[in-house]
Amino acid sequence: MTLKNDLVLRAARGEKVERTPVWLMRQAGRVLPEYRAVREKMGGFKELVETPEFACEVTIQPVDILGVDAAIIFSDILVIPEAMGLPYQMVEAKGPWFEKTIKTADDIAQLRVAQPEDLHYVMDALKLTKKTLDGRVPLIGFAGAPWTIFAYMIEGSGSKTFSKAKKFLYTQPQLSHLLLQKITDSTINYLKGQIVAGADMLQLFDSWAGILSPEQYNEFSLKYISQICDAITEVPFTVFAKDAHFARVQMGKLSCDTIGLDWTMDIAESRAMIGNTKTLQGNIDPCLLYADYDVIKKEAVKMLKAFGPDRHIANLGHGLYPDLEKDKVRCFVDAIKEFRF
Ligand code: CP3
Repeated sequence: MTLKNDLVLRAARGEKVERTPVWLMRQAGRVLPEYRAVREKMGGFKELVETPEFACEVTIQPVDILGVDAAIIFSDILVIPEAMGLPYQMVEAKGPWFEKTIKTADDIAQLRVAQPEDLHYVMDALKLTKKTLDGRVPLIGFAGAPWTIFAYMIEGSGSKTFSKAKKFLYTQPQLSHLLLQKITDSTINYLKGQIVAGADMLQLFDSWAGILSPEQYNEFSLKYISQICDAITEVPFTVFAKDAHFARVQMGKLSCDTIGLDWTMDIAESRAMIGNTKTLQGNIDPCLLYADYDVIKKEAVKMLKAFGPDRHIANLGHGLYPDLEKDKVRCFVDAIKEFRF
């Protein structure tokens, strides 16, 4: 099916665009009262993720309500540990929690390498969403980067320091590699399945990149991200490694199309480090959207000018916060869409 709006895909491939496209990390849910209404009808977050009709509905909401140039499938990065054998719960107001975690070689041996069939509900949600979108905008699929998934599998929940996960790297480097490889193989299978199910573009989230040393990042994260980039050749691919300042030069050498920047990364400096062969995505501080409308508009234009007209997909530097006002979010999206170089 030909897309009516393929700006995001063209920008990712480095082709000319009439204007800079925009979508927002965590656009599905959270800030939309319409999302909260659907969420209330369901038992909870997981039920929403696992019911394709509802996942489809909340995936398309931001396209209708915020006017973004892409939809991102409503799911979570934690579906991979679950498919491998570690079920998660999303505890209200607390976040993810795993009953079983990885401690020993035997725990790792017992994990399965996930196959697309294990995540049939995500595949069904993608198929239904692709059909329902009817070519209006591209559909983005995603997964967590192996290091970030590893961190949750060892830690068993969110954490400020992920010290258990980091301790595992220092004390069990060989087992760490074994687990990271199993997660990588599962992630490649999963992302390939998402392409078959209709994803037009894919993004990898390395949310906990910034807590590793540069040396550890090379050994325990980039090595596996690189395998995934090499395996995904069918659709444009984005790598977003939060706080990974130190890795920007190496990220420029990955075989992906787009690199996500957070708001702490200087735009010109990042471009110089990453080079001209990648599209950059980002990077407004989500907290800007608490400011007055005129400040939001001014900063949005400032960001666009700093990135320039080529190879940029406008986004935030991380996900939307739940207490942001929908009208402020919409103001940011409109400011991007109205601007012309
Ligand atoms: O971007 C989107 O709109 C698509 C959906 C999406 C969700 N999670 C839905 C979600 C995406 C892309 C994610 C990715 C994700 N999940 C990441 C990587 C990106 C990042 O933020 O760094 C991480 C680390 C997770 C793990 C996770 N999921 C945590 C720690 C939490 C609880 C804290 C929080 O941020 O709310 C979640 C829950 C979650 N995932 C919600 C949503 C909409 C909130 C659930 C709710 O209250 O309804």
